[in-house]
Amino acid sequence: MMRLGLNVDHVATVREARRGRVPDPVAAAVIAEMSGVDGIVCHLREDRRHIKDKDLFLLKEVVKTHLNLEMAATDEMVNIAIEVVPDMVTLVPEKREELTTEGGLDVVSNFDWIEEVVRQLRNNNIVVSLFLEPDIDQIKAAAKLQADYVELHTGIYANAEDMGGMSDELERIRSMAMGATKLGLGVSAGHGLDYHNVRDILDIEQIEELNIGHSIVSKAIMVGMERAVGEMLDIIRK
Ligand code: PXP
Repeated sequence: MMRLGLNVDHVATVREARRGRVPDPVAAAVIAEMSGVDGIVCHLREDRRHIKDKDLFLLKEVVKTHLNLEMAATDEMVNIAIEVVPDMVTLVPEKREELTTEGGLDVVSNFDWIEEVVRQLRNNNIVVSLFLEPDIDQIKAAAKLQADYVELHTGIYANAEDMGGMSDELERIRSMAMGATKLGLGVSAGHGLDYHNVRDILDIEQIEELNIGHSIVSKAIMVGMERAVGEMLDIIRK
């Protein structure tokens, strides 16, 4: 059965609308765990636009399931990760102007640097995942530099304008999940998944974990975190 990781960034986004104390992403993480999620994900961005360093330190203290820190492969972030020691780090590309993470990490072009970052993190007992486009060259590079996991970017699938585009992309994700598994990598997936488009992803048995943020946090605003998480878990675990 697939695991569900909840990304709590957008709880912090609402907090930062007033630069105050509520809503608190750490409290959201606690309620989400009580509601059955398998892990908590947060992205400490270079610009700290939502999650702050303090949130990350508190999440490390309170999360009882599994804490996955998304971050850029920079010296600053590597130092923070080594201090906090989350269960997992997911390396993502980061651009200042973007609304959200756009595209996967280019491991092929940045092989030596990413290899060094992965080595440092793994030496500190952190499981390392690389957020990648479903592309065979990127996946082969991830295996070569000894990443533990790849997280397949589902954004193109989620934003496809028609059924044809969606099913082409679904097949690409499926074959890349199989390829990654054959290369010995663990596989997760995420970005843009919601209560509807997640269903077809569930057929891809190589995917061990889904990381979902915006759709669940959006629903939680309307109906509460417990119900928002529960409805997603009902779909995933059916
Ligand atoms: N996985 C990764 C690597 C991401 O960067 C994000 C967005 O922060 C997500 C999953 C979750 O995406 P969404 O908020 O669209 O569900």
